[in-house]
Amino acid sequence: MLATLESRTSTALAVQARDVVKIYGRDETTVRALDGATLQIEAGRFTAIMGPSGSGKSTMMHAMAGLDTIDSGQVLIGSTDITALGEKQRTLLRRERIGFVFQSFNLVPALTASENIALPLTLAGKRPDPAWMAELASVLGIEQRLTHRPHELSGGQQQRVAVARALIARPEVVFADEPTGNLDSRHGEALLGILRKAAHEMGQTIVMVTHDPSAASHVDRIVFLADGRVIDELEDPTVPAILSKMAHLEAPSTRIGE
Ligand SMILES: Nc1ncnc2c1ncn2[C@@H]1O[C@H](COP(=O)(O)OP(=O)(O)OP(=O)(O)O)[C@@H](O)[C@H]1O
Ligand SMILES: [Mg+2]
Repeated sequence: MLATLESRTSTALAVQARDVVKIYGRDETTVRALDGATLQIEAGRFTAIMGPSGSGKSTMMHAMAGLDTIDSGQVLIGSTDITALGEKQRTLLRRERIGFVFQSFNLVPALTASENIALPLTLAGKRPDPAWMAELASVLGIEQRLTHRPHELSGGQQQRVAVARALIARPEVVFADEPTGNLDSRHGEALLGILRKAAHEMGQTIVMVTHDPSAASHVDRIVFLADGRVIDELEDPTVPAILSKMAHLEAPSTRIGE
């Protein structure tokens, strides 16, 4: 018991979000996308973020990755307070320590798939490790598409290129916003396998948004968001446990009188 407690408290935190508020728009169109969200992500684990559409998942990922500024609160990557960094330093930190898979892929149209994958390294004046590039391409099933540009790829292929790009530099933390959203189950399973491997075998910290209970059952821990706040979590999730949480969280009216 004591040993369990000790190992838990000694787990390093890869990302911490404290009381994060993010407001979009002004006056009557104001949306509090994040409304005091507090969350800790343990290093070397595969964590999922789930919650209804519009609950703030993408906003939270962008805030944690330093892609967006926040209105109040604090975000730490390791021990670095990124909310205290200037734009230039944040860009550098992102380039060196973070990989991001956007919900909308964000591939560069003029570059081929392999150039897109190598981009985080190219920007840092480095070259990809050919063996790792080959393994990513093979596991993700995009070897035959590497010389093509994004407009010549299907949505699911673009998504897999975006995942390879986030993993190529082996960054400390990888954020993936619905990375299996456009994939069939075979490619989805392969992708989840490589994210799991990145966490458990390479010590990277992986944070994934998903709506899919089956995808979420591959992770170590799920954090549930609603209305811009963290409201629940689940360790070592199974599909039935996830479905049961989702049924409660997405139908608040059923809780009346509980
Ligand atoms: N650029 C923006 N301008 C104004 N409102 C925004 C902007 N981006 C997001 N929002 C609003 O903030 C809230 C949270 O959006 P967010 O994209 O984080 O949700 P989400 O949980 O990722 O949803 P989904 O599951 O549909 O991707 C929503 O109400 C959304 O309409
Ligand atoms: Mg989203």
